[in-house]
Amino acid sequence: MQITESYEGTIERTLYSREQIAAAIERLAREIAADHRGQPLMLLGVLKGALFVVTDLARAVAAVPDGPSEIIVDYMCVSSYGNATRSSGEVRLLKDTSEPVTGRNVVIVEDIVDNGLTLQYLQALLGERQPARLRSCVLFDKPYHRRVDVPVEYVGLQAPDEFVVGYGLDYQELFRNLPYLAQLKDAVFTRPEA
Ligand code: PRP
Repeated sequence: MQITESYEGTIERTLYSREQIAAAIERLAREIAADHRGQPLMLLGVLKGALFVVTDLARAVAAVPDGPSEIIVDYMCVSSYGNATRSSGEVRLLKDTSEPVTGRNVVIVEDIVDNGLTLQYLQALLGERQPARLRSCVLFDKPYHRRVDVPVEYVGLQAPDEFVVGYGLDYQELFRNLPYLAQLKDAVFTRPEA
């Protein structure tokens, strides 16, 4: 049995197929490439959730003709949800960038923005380091429970007001490797939250 088959009884419905996600990433790549034509670009993926979006986006931006002069990919790792379905509201920095952001054209790449606290934290932290430009790219926007206003220059798709998994998003660390975005069956949420 393949691992994705073992997930099948737990999926309520597919929200965005892998083809719809790929199309959204292509569009985001064209927007980012156009805004950084002839300039160096640093794509900064926010782990763990952005592990797929930042790699797919980096290759898609590179494939756009007349795009950035060069692309650096780097990562930060932050967490505010732990194993819970609700944010703790406290963002923890688990790993900083490897490369300095000062003087660079940086695009923060997130899988999802929900209450906005994670992105607000990152924009403040990185903004203090004086990048040449700091912009944000989010594949899935969940605007229903924003606690803070955060600017997002590049938005991929609207997520419904449900707990969603797949394409990097997890429930208790599972489901990140699903190639599509999905809603889980209610029965899955029986395990105690950490
Ligand atoms: C998720 C997601 C974003 C953040 C968005 O990360 O990857 O970074 O939550 O939520 P917010 O807008 O409500 O702050 P999480 O803390 O679950 O860690 P993970 O990326 O390792 O799954």
